[in-house]
Amino acid sequence: MVQVNGNYLKLKAGYLFPEIARRVKAFSEANPEAQVIRLGIGDVTEPLPEACRTAMKAAIDAMGTSEGFHGYGPEQGYPWLREAIARHDFQSRGCEVSAEEIFISDGSKCDSSNILDILGEGNRIAVTDPVYPVYVDSNVMAGRTGDADGVGRYGGLTYLPITAANGFTAEIPSGKVDLIYLCFPNNPTGAVASREQLKAWVDYARASGALILFDAAYEAFIQDPELPHSIYEIEGARECAIEFRSFSKNAGFTGTRCALTVVPRGLMGTAADGEKVELWGLWNRRQCTKFNGVSYIVQRGAEAVYSPEGQAQVKALTAFYMENAAIIRRELTAAGIQVYGGEQAPYVWLKTPEGLDSWGFFDQLLQRAHVVGTPGSGFGAAGEGYFRLSAFNSRANVEEAMRRVRAL
Ligand code: MLT
Repeated sequence: MVQVNGNYLKLKAGYLFPEIARRVKAFSEANPEAQVIRLGIGDVTEPLPEACRTAMKAAIDAMGTSEGFHGYGPEQGYPWLREAIARHDFQSRGCEVSAEEIFISDGSKCDSSNILDILGEGNRIAVTDPVYPVYVDSNVMAGRTGDADGVGRYGGLTYLPITAANGFTAEIPSGKVDLIYLCFPNNPTGAVASREQLKAWVDYARASGALILFDAAYEAFIQDPELPHSIYEIEGARECAIEFRSFSKNAGFTGTRCALTVVPRGLMGTAADGEKVELWGLWNRRQCTKFNGVSYIVQRGAEAVYSPEGQAQVKALTAFYMENAAIIRRELTAAGIQVYGGEQAPYVWLKTPEGLDSWGFFDQLLQRAHVVGTPGSGFGAAGEGYFRLSAFNSRANVEEAMRRVRAL
């Protein structure tokens, strides 16, 4: 009989969001009259921006002609999209990132997992706790961890607690680690890192030869003009960081799929024999072998985000979700609940009421208010006693959900 990848057997329970969906389905089947409002998974709800739709329609029409037809595209993405991204997202903020260093993909979730293909097995890995579960699970699947303990922490990983005490931005590790996952604005806590905090990470990584995997999927939600959007705004980051970005949340592409990863030229790793190897070449090789690129139609849609109309529409979309976040913050605070995040990110992180753990609050909210959120403990042991509400929903649903929560 075929052997399975035993690393998968180390994984605790199901992936968080399918597990939530399973519980909600069971509840809805038992209570078919309940109007369930989902503020759990961070999936967008508002329509695709018109500029993107117009560009995608034009691309479909072009595909229907001999001259405009496109077969396999470049595995790295079309140059016109990579150039638009380099100019608008990076160079305009003073980051020295070129089109060649941008790899278009079908998602940051995929890229932040796939990156392990080019990284060695002996790396000491640091993740925050709580954390976006993909970073942990993908390391478990790739055999980079030991077994989980009673609270779900895997052997071999260094967990950096993010708590109210440290403003939900992790302390620099005291010991040596080789690979550090950072996500700012943070999923799940909604916290954001200042320039000084990111500089401390970059300084640590440069001094110790570590690599930072920086997930900036929520950068478009930053409201404070002083805050950095990219790790490359910090001097020296090109020597120690890879950055992931996505069109999912700012432009509503969760179902359309388009994202990007920046791998700077000259960013080096070490082979087993001590030879220095450029990570760009390895990632390029990995993508050319295992990936055939994002569809021409979708990349044309993503390109339209950078047109003047696209910029205005995307800004309006993110502003809409941030208004939702403000409503959630205001209503929860009025209900006497301690809230964090939600000011520079579309996630509100809240302390569960006295006497209820994360899943206990989940069940109570679902059963009594028919509102779905995400238990903090699903993001890590230090998330126990916390809960995440997503601002991704219609205004009417957010207002109704908050009305029900306040009535509890
Ligand atoms: C979340 O709810 O945390 C999101 O769905 C993350 C993601 O985009 O995969």
